[in-house]
Amino acid sequence: MFEKLELISADAILGLMAAFRADPDPRKVDLGVGVFRDDRGETPVLASVRTAEQALVAEQTTKTYVGPSGNPGFNQQMEQLVFGAGHPAVKAGRVRTVQAPGGCGALRLGAELIRAAAPDSVVHVSTPTWANHVPLLGNSGLKLERYPYFDAQTGGVQFGAMMAALEKLPPRAVVLLHASCHNPTGADLSQDEWRAVLELVKRRSLLPFIDMAYQGLGEGADADAFAIRLFSAELPELVCAVSCSKNFGLYRERTGSLHVINEGAKAADATLSQLVRLARGMWSMPPDHGAEIVRRILSEAALRESWARELEAMRTRITGLRHELVRQLRAQCPQRDFSFIARQRGMFSFFGITTEQVRRMRAEHHIYMTDDSRINIAGLRAENLEYVARATAQVLAA
Ligand SMILES: Cc1ncc(COP(=O)(O)O)c(C=O)c1O
Repeated sequence: MFEKLELISADAILGLMAAFRADPDPRKVDLGVGVFRDDRGETPVLASVRTAEQALVAEQTTKTYVGPSGNPGFNQQMEQLVFGAGHPAVKAGRVRTVQAPGGCGALRLGAELIRAAAPDSVVHVSTPTWANHVPLLGNSGLKLERYPYFDAQTGGVQFGAMMAALEKLPPRAVVLLHASCHNPTGADLSQDEWRAVLELVKRRSLLPFIDMAYQGLGEGADADAFAIRLFSAELPELVCAVSCSKNFGLYRERTGSLHVINEGAKAADATLSQLVRLARGMWSMPPDHGAEIVRRILSEAALRESWARELEAMRTRITGLRHELVRQLRAQCPQRDFSFIARQRGMFSFFGITTEQVRRMRAEHHIYMTDDSRINIAGLRAENLEYVARATAQVLAA
């Protein structure tokens, strides 16, 4: 049977990782892979995670199943982290949360729920969006379409064009939005723009599906959840996929949550029963290890404080690097405006160079980024910022 399967070429990012590993040049810089790195270029286990994990290992008495909706304490803590304490939608019993294997699992489960409710739904995603949104949502059977988003001229959002496109959507169209730290562009909506989107979504009866993979890495844990909190207070329905991979550094532990806001408690119970059924059919039960670590961190004051400090340090490192990179680029290539990098948020930016220039950065300067010139800001280090800026100047001048 399998002899009929065609060989698929490796994912571009995996090829880039392999090429970087094989490059013997000591000056090499990896701006490709989407993980946070510290100034030594490492992605360490957070101290808060280490402490929670050690306690977990020492205290856990059983490995028996938890259940298809996951770790109840984790779900409860995640609701508070995402919606904030005392959110009206949570208080009204309109929110149902299930644990999922990472933000990816949450996105897929959300798509399956939408498909179960309305099989002909179309999900509208930004141009561009995170490449994995396409298979994660599309493989559920939902159709995907695009709305304009990134403005390459300004490095910001083409807000007028985005709104004009959303304005034309039929009622019940699904709109996928990035809560903060838009991947791959770093261009986020302002709070006023979110309010305008909310007004449009209400007027056109659209269903927003918000993906939050970087809570705390943009402006702070509360500010990054602004849209989710605003929308869930004002809309009858909303779907939110949340990842703990980046802000807890739990990547391989596959920890995330799906939150569905419903019109009322009765609808919410039906939604939860469907989520449980769908999860049973995909992964049966999500892995508990990462979720239990997060539960412990968020529910124990000292651990939570230590995690909040670590998250703040990650965020400040990224914003500091953004400003410093702009400063170095201004010094090395004053003819080109890179100031948009400092206005953007989160780990990613489009550097705005051509594919040919990307390849020269790699071949001549050992600086690795994807062909579309997406850079992971956290891949920079204080010691190589000037090198990257100089290399950029050389490649742009050629
Ligand atoms: C925009 C976006 N959504 C969701 C995810 C899901 O991450 P994970 O499944 O690793 O939690 C990511 C990870 O890179 C992401 O960038």
